[in-house]
Amino acid sequence: MKRKNPYLGADQHTQRAKAQGYPARSVFKLREIDERVRLLRVGQRVVDLGAAPGSWTLWAAERVGPQGSVLAIDLKELSLALAPHVTAVRGDALELGSELLVRHGPFDVVLSDMAPSTSGNKLRDQALSAELFSRALEVGREHGAPGSAFVAKLFMSGDFPALRRAVGEVYAQVKTIRAEATRPNSSEVFVVGMAHR
Ligand SMILES: C[S@@+](CC[C@H](N)C(=O)[O-])C[C@H]1O[C@@H](n2cnc3c(N)ncnc32)[C@H](O)[C@@H]1O
Repeated sequence: MKRKNPYLGADQHTQRAKAQGYPARSVFKLREIDERVRLLRVGQRVVDLGAAPGSWTLWAAERVGPQGSVLAIDLKELSLALAPHVTAVRGDALELGSELLVRHGPFDVVLSDMAPSTSGNKLRDQALSAELFSRALEVGREHGAPGSAFVAKLFMSGDFPALRRAVGEVYAQVKTIRAEATRPNSSEVFVVGMAHR
């Protein structure tokens, strides 16, 4: 009898991610950024905003190891088995009070893969993405340790130059990365800040 392929219909990156134990293709984006800028190290404290379904959280948890910690936050629940050094919180990053962040921080790395559910209205989606990006930067500014790093997703728009400049006010080095695993029709980029001032 022919066995049904569970990944049938999924694209190649998604199939590869699942075969390696990650729930989403986005793991390859973080892996690429990690390799390009030497982002994650053993023992670091990480906050992962927009963490569901959990690929970035799993990758970060493996890289920082049990000596480090990962605080994962999303509107949706993470339905994965997580290591003891990972704390998953269901919540809205835009509304989050500072108590949780103070308890788990200061962070060596602030990650945000947050994205609005796309509405088809390009301007609206870009504006929401800019809002989520700005919130991630606020978390980095207020809860990032000296010398820490920042990676956040942003849908490309006319706001991009101002938002990139804003990252430069908090971090000494700024890079924009378009990850290879990004879908060709997507306008997303990742803005990376290194060396929190
Ligand atoms: C592209 S997915 C993240 C994928 C994740 N990095 C991974 O590797 O599995 C974007 C996530 O952003 C979350 N999100 C959007 N707005 C948010 C908000 N205001 N607060 C928290 N999470 C949010 C969505 O619920 C969604 O799960």
